Amino acid sequence: MTTIAVIGLGAMGLGIAQVYVTAGFAVLGTDAGSNARATARDGLSRALSSRVTSGRLTPDDAAAALDRFRVVDDLDALAAADLAIEAIVEDKAAKSALLAQMESVLSPGATLATNTSSLGVGDLATALTRPGRLVGLHFFNPPPAMRLVELVTLPVTDPAAATLARQVTETAGKTVIACADSPGFVVNRCARPFYGEALALLEEGRSPADIDGAMLAAGYRLGPLGLIDLIGTDVHLAATETIYAAFDRHPRYYPFAALRRRVLSGHLGRKSGIGLLYPQTMPAAPADAAAIALRIEATLVNEAAWLVAAGGPAAADIDTALRLGMNFPRGPFEMLDLHGRDRVRQTLADLARNAPPHLAGRYDAAPLLQAG
Ligand SMILES: NC(=O)c1ccc[n+]([C@@H]2O[C@H](COP(=O)([O-])OP(=O)(O)OC[C@H]3O[C@@H](n4cnc5c(N)ncnc54)[C@H](O)[C@@H]3O)[C@@H](O)[C@H]2O)c1
Repeated sequence: MTTIAVIGLGAMGLGIAQVYVTAGFAVLGTDAGSNARATARDGLSRALSSRVTSGRLTPDDAAAALDRFRVVDDLDALAAADLAIEAIVEDKAAKSALLAQMESVLSPGATLATNTSSLGVGDLATALTRPGRLVGLHFFNPPPAMRLVELVTLPVTDPAAATLARQVTETAGKTVIACADSPGFVVNRCARPFYGEALALLEEGRSPADIDGAMLAAGYRLGPLGLIDLIGTDVHLAATETIYAAFDRHPRYYPFAALRRRVLSGHLGRKSGIGLLYPQTMPAAPADAAAIALRIEATLVNEAAWLVAAGGPAAADIDTALRLGMNFPRGPFEMLDLHGRDRVRQTLADLARNAPPHLAGRYDAAPLLQAG
């Protein structure tokens, strides 16, 4: 019987615990906060009950799942775990210290995993004596509902560690995509133009309603500006700046002033009552909706094609990742099939010709899209 430990029982950690107990694994959970420890079991119980109410779990299965979850007070009590996943605060020093501690508590054959979104798994591995035992297991929010998990491995990763992490996560019903340790992994990197090109359009004077209306008409469940409002403009700006810095300020990841201005004005999205689009949510499509959608999708195709050029995952895996991780109606290479290579290339060339100086190079086509 595989035992899984989850350290950090916040929004993500408790959701990850739910994923594995529901799949039949024993889960040991802990948190530095006594309140988080004290409330975790009730939180899990409520989450399981709501699955019973919605008919996705029987009352017996929910009770059995809750029985498999045990909250412990200190890390020493996690010694029996075969896989330990940390979902603590996104802070390199805190995560490095915790992972080093876990390494000394667990057996040498155990697998360590980090749920980091923005830190390098390789950077975290430097804190360890056995860096080959660490993988990234990047769940999406909320973990029980989102089917995708990115499995991040390093050149030094022990295949047995990656295999265990993949097997238990697939057993829990997730689609696991292997990815390299590069900023934003696959989903958070390939989704940048969805937001960025919408913000570029906003800076050119298009209304938020036109931009999101165009993407809703193209089959997206939420437009890019509405999605930023849901995430929080402040949280989104911080994530954009992290990726921009990680890619040496490449203009494809440019943090637009339109976003920064909203943050400085306190317009943080749904949580503050005003955002880029919010309180509006589902605007109608403008007359040129198709052109707006083509522009945003052409830049999505280009980002994915640059990732492939850098040795990233196969095109089909990138498509799966964006459909499951972002709820996109189609992946970037399906967008390429839809619009055709010539139109995508022409759209990028037109954008490049009209780009302001600070965006020079933003629309350079990836090798896959170049003429020839
Ligand atoms: N929230 C998201 O949308 C999301 C999505 C994917 C990944 N992540 C990543 O998941 C991790 C957790 O995020 P979250 O949103 O659940 O945060 P959260 O603030 O809800 O929970 C973090 C928990 O970790 C605990 N904690 C902090 N330091 C600790 C330590 N040293 N030892 C033990 N427990 C400690 C805190 O008490 C808290 O309960 C972060 O790395 C984050 O980047 C978050």
